[in-house]
Amino acid sequence: MVLRTVLDLRQFARTQHTAGKTIGLVPTMGALHEGHASLIRAARQRCDVVVVTIFVNPTQFGPQEDFARYPRTFEADCALAERERADAVFAPAVEEMYPAGATTFVEVEGLSGRLDGASRPGHFRGVATVVTKLLIAADADRAYFGQKDAAQVAVLRRMATDLRIGTEIVVCPIAREADGLAVSSRNVYLSAEERRQALVLSCAVRRVENLVADGERRRDVLLDAAHAEVAKEPAVRLDYLELVDWATLEPVETAKPGTLFAVAAWVGKTRLIDNAVIG
Ligand code: PAJ
Repeated sequence: MVLRTVLDLRQFARTQHTAGKTIGLVPTMGALHEGHASLIRAARQRCDVVVVTIFVNPTQFGPQEDFARYPRTFEADCALAERERADAVFAPAVEEMYPAGATTFVEVEGLSGRLDGASRPGHFRGVATVVTKLLIAADADRAYFGQKDAAQVAVLRRMATDLRIGTEIVVCPIAREADGLAVSSRNVYLSAEERRQALVLSCAVRRVENLVADGERRRDVLLDAAHAEVAKEPAVRLDYLELVDWATLEPVETAKPGTLFAVAAWVGKTRLIDNAVIG
């Protein structure tokens, strides 16, 4: 079932809740892949009703970013959602999520300016705003997000706590290609050569994971090793490479449980991210 309006989504949610059912929400921008599928499966396991949202959210793209050319594959997305046994797809028009004259935004101060937020001004304001609208409209019991976008998770956890939104934020592991590359809707932008170069991101992540497994905890040692991995492909341009507290996104000197190692880099014109959370 495809729902197009907020009113339809709200009525759908009310009907489900009246019937005593729990709702799991999987917010996406479409171009669905195995990462999204893994979120739908996680929701399927624990919720009576699963709603996948497909909305390329204009407010989270910068003026020079890829909003216009972001992959849009609605038919294939619906097929994937159905294969994974989602109950409904919510695919609103832009005017539905941002009614004419809309001036209300959700700003998670501090966190929104770190990591991806530092290089993409306004990005997390757009993300927090649209996810707030989706969580309210769907009145979801749980909402599913990928650790792939680890800074986004930090922002959304803070937002849900601060706004007293009752939805439980559930985080799922990073789905990877066989060679380690994190699955992403933006991987379709990569040429064969760039696809090969992009592997330095997951190599850096694995290097840090291995060092931590061997007992290394020092920021400088971990980041130097990660830098060395990325430097193996001079064409890859680093955006950030950081060791932070996953909750606050503030840099830390010593890795411990809950520490996030995160990397972002440009491969050609494509910006890719990857990370590991210290267990
Ligand atoms: P999008 O990039 O479509 O991602 C939707 C969800 O899928 C996010 O929670 C993201 O972390 C997760 N995801 C993407 N790649 C993944 C992977 N390889 N493994 C596991 N999960 C993965 O993130 C967004 O859309 C938007 O910012 C959104 C939250 C929908 C707000 O517009």
